[in-house]
Amino acid sequence: MRVKIGDLYLNVVVEGSGPPLLLVHGFPFDHTMWHEQLSALVGHFQMIAPDLRGFGDSDAPASFYSMDLYADDLAHLLDVLGQEKVVLAGLSMGGYIALAFQRRYPERLAGLVLADTQATADTETARAGRYAAIRTVQAEGVEAVVSGLLPKLFAPANFAAKRILREWVRAMMMRQSPAGVMGALKAMAERPDSTPGLAVVSCPTLVIVGEEDLLTPPAKAAALVAAIPGARLAVIPEAGHLTPLEAPEAFNRLLLENLDTGYAAREDIALGDV
Ligand code: MLT
Repeated sequence: MRVKIGDLYLNVVVEGSGPPLLLVHGFPFDHTMWHEQLSALVGHFQMIAPDLRGFGDSDAPASFYSMDLYADDLAHLLDVLGQEKVVLAGLSMGGYIALAFQRRYPERLAGLVLADTQATADTETARAGRYAAIRTVQAEGVEAVVSGLLPKLFAPANFAAKRILREWVRAMMMRQSPAGVMGALKAMAERPDSTPGLAVVSCPTLVIVGEEDLLTPPAKAAALVAAIPGARLAVIPEAGHLTPLEAPEAFNRLLLENLDTGYAAREDIALGDV
């Protein structure tokens, strides 16, 4: 459905019943990256999967974007949907937004799931790469950026073997608008370091990472876990940056086991058998 928040419309899928789970997609994706979760977990949670401003079927204003603005959009969306408190699961850029949301609306979080993400800001080199990518999108459209990013999103063996998934992800990225892609690149380039705020995160937090994540490797996940009080770490084997798509069964099981039990246990999770 399309929901008006302030002066723009966001597209959001709301499905299922149970505790509310807000799923925040990465870059340059849309809510369809969660289709394995939407179909498998529909009996367990009320899943709220928006397209962020600039992505999917949401409006894509050619204006300023920031992590704080995306977080404010989500808070506004929850107001409209009548949800006071949610578990927020964000992948990659969705994780950057989750950390902005946690800074701005900590009282609205029943829990956090940070998947294939990091707390640190861009290095100078990474920031320069984002601005170069903005110039490329401006001159040529999104295709060059999509082609450069695609191989880095998967565990190498999955990129080679999972052709249908790979092409599905390519198509999802290709349909994003230049305005939204450029806005997100700038927002990521300018995002602050979230590390200083991690020590005060008070909601249960699960950090998930693909063992072969090339963009935000397990060391980034370990740093999050070390800094967030009581956070738990799950490393999913044979998966890269796209754990919800490359290893949906393992990812879904983690959500079910952790969110259903209210994150009761504290030990790190062994996933050797998945
Ligand atoms: C993402 O998957 O959201 C992006 O790769 C994050 C990033 O470029 O930092």
